[in-house]
Amino acid sequence: MPRRRFLASAATALVGGRLVNRALGAPLLPMAELNAGAPLIVSTWPFGKPANEKALSVLEAGGTGLDAIEQGIHVTESDLSNPSVGLGGIPNADGIVQLDSCIMSGPGHRAGSVAAVSGFRHPISIARAVMEKTIHVMLVGEGAEKFAAAHGFERGPKVTDGQRAAWKRWKAAKAKEAAAAADSKKRPAKNHDTIAMVMLGRGGDIFGGCSTSGWGYKVPGRVGDSPIIGGGLYVDNEVGAAGATGIGENVMRYCGSFLVVELMRQGLHPQEACIETIRRIAKLDPKGFDLSINFIALDKRGRFGAAGTGTGFEYSVTCGAFSKVVQSPGLTSADIGPLGGNRK
Ligand code: GLY
Repeated sequence: MPRRRFLASAATALVGGRLVNRALGAPLLPMAELNAGAPLIVSTWPFGKPANEKALSVLEAGGTGLDAIEQGIHVTESDLSNPSVGLGGIPNADGIVQLDSCIMSGPGHRAGSVAAVSGFRHPISIARAVMEKTIHVMLVGEGAEKFAAAHGFERGPKVTDGQRAAWKRWKAAKAKEAAAAADSKKRPAKNHDTIAMVMLGRGGDIFGGCSTSGWGYKVPGRVGDSPIIGGGLYVDNEVGAAGATGIGENVMRYCGSFLVVELMRQGLHPQEACIETIRRIAKLDPKGFDLSINFIALDKRGRFGAAGTGTGFEYSVTCGAFSKVVQSPGLTSADIGPLGGNRK
């Protein structure tokens, strides 16, 4: 069977003009909506919807694509009840929130990124400043904080009172565990909910941004996929853009967002590209589909899609005609069949 037809039959299929997710047995969006055109904004998780809507309003008020990405992501970064983005995030093992973020501009193929930054409210803005005010792409830790201070970026607490109290409980529980070394390899549930946002702006230019507090109670200094260009985000102005959420270690080892964009370049629909990327990673990875990774994507034609492992995930899509939360297809070994690669 030709590869593209196999992909369509594996987890999604076109039935009567509708993209149907076989794993969930539910129709996704009609193809007319899939071709809604610019401006089109796609982001991870339901909390991306107000961020998308802010981004759209910035565009409608005459702002640039970068303004829209930055101010859209500010909405999520400012929500201190969000435990996985911004200064409300779960801290690292030392009780300090370390933030990762990046931004990309399709025009000029420019990128800026910061990692392991503490005490600043909007890492996406610092990432933009790295892109626009330095000759570099990425600043980390103390250097990024000095840069942010020198440029007058808004400061905030190194951890919120609520997260500090939760961290103290976590630390006390951890101290009681005999197998501390083994424990450090466990993944706390529901703490990887990065915002990745990709946008097709007016005129067909493409932009993206990503922001997260990363893995809750991570080893201090740990950096995930979100600030890694090609890992948690990638934009190619000729093709499209992709972003990721989930366990960064399982994305960055495969240049996941770059791979999604390259598969779109080869002609795959954004949703097919997300599906095929997960399938490629699962085929190589000893964990198979037990990866907790999710991708969003859009292309130059105004088509979009997403896919995740397991039951998939919810993502947000906003354009002039609608703004909604959409369920992605979910991939398991049952959907794809037997795997090869390194899987044991
Ligand atoms: N995807 C976010 C992280 O793993 O840090």
